[in-house]
Amino acid sequence: MATTSAAYYVDRMTVGDIAEVIDIERQSFSLPWPSNAYKRELQDNRTAHYIVVRRHDPSQSSQAHAAPKKERRDESRGLFSFLRALTPAQQLPQHEGPPTVFAYAGLWLMVDEAHITTIAVRPEYRGKGLGELILCGLVDTSLEIGARLMTLEVRISNSVAQNLYLKYGFKQSGLRRRYYSDNNEDALIMTAEAINAPVFLNNYRLLKSSLLRKLG
Ligand SMILES: CC(C)(COP(=O)(O)OP(=O)(O)OC[C@H]1O[C@@H](n2cnc3c(N)ncnc32)[C@H](O)[C@@H]1OP(=O)(O)O)[C@@H](O)C(=O)NCCC(=O)NCCS
Repeated sequence: MATTSAAYYVDRMTVGDIAEVIDIERQSFSLPWPSNAYKRELQDNRTAHYIVVRRHDPSQSSQAHAAPKKERRDESRGLFSFLRALTPAQQLPQHEGPPTVFAYAGLWLMVDEAHITTIAVRPEYRGKGLGELILCGLVDTSLEIGARLMTLEVRISNSVAQNLYLKYGFKQSGLRRRYYSDNNEDALIMTAEAINAPVFLNNYRLLKSSLLRKLG
C-alpha cells in the first residue's frame, strides 16, 4: 500500500527541500540541526533515508524552494551531536512562498535497526494526521530496506509524540538520562520490535487504512 492519500503523499527528501525542512525544524525543536547537516545526510550518508510529506497540488512546484539567505548560529541534538561539528556557524536557508513540505522525517539503517533521527510536522498542520502519515512513510521505508526493528529517542515531556509512537506499536525500551543538552531532560527510548512480523504488520495496515480514509 503506497503512503499516499488523495490530498497528501510521502516522497523522498531532496536538497531542494532543505530550506523548508529547516523552517519546520526551527519551529519544532529547541536544538535544531544545522542546514548543512541535512545536505550531508542526503548526499554522503548511505545509511540515511529522509522523506517529506507533500500535497497533491499542480500549482505548487519545486521552484518555490528558496535559496539560503540568513545567517544564524545553530546546534544539533542528542546522539547525533557529531553533526554539529560539521558546521559550527551556519547559513540557515529561509523558505519563501506557500509551503510545499508539510512534514519530514528520517532514519538511519544500522544493521537491521531503523533508528529514527528526526520527525516533525509543520506546526499549523499538526493534529490532522500528517504525523501519522510521515511515520507510516518511515515504517514503509524501514520494511523496504530490510529493517526488523525501529527505535527512537523522545523527550520525557513530549507526550504528543509518545502517543503517536504508542499508537503504532512502539514500546518504552529504555531511558537515556540527561540526553538533551538544552535542559538536561531525559530521553525515553521507544522501540517497535519485529516490524516484519504479522502482529505488527496487521495492526499497521489497519492503522494506515484508517489514516488514509481520514486524510481523504
Ligand atoms: C509529534 C508530531 C510529529 C505529531 O504530528 P501530528 O501531525 O500533530 O500528529 P497526528 O495528527 O498525526 O496525530 C497522531 C497521534 O499523535 C497523538 N497526538 C497528536 N496530537 C496530540 C495531542 N495534542 N495530544 C495528545 N496526543 C496527540 C495521538 O496519539 C494521535 O492519534 P489520534 O488522532 O488517534 O489521537 C508533531 O506534534 C510535531 O511535529 N511535534 C514537534 C516535533 C516533535 O516533537 N517530534 C518528535 C520528536 S521525538
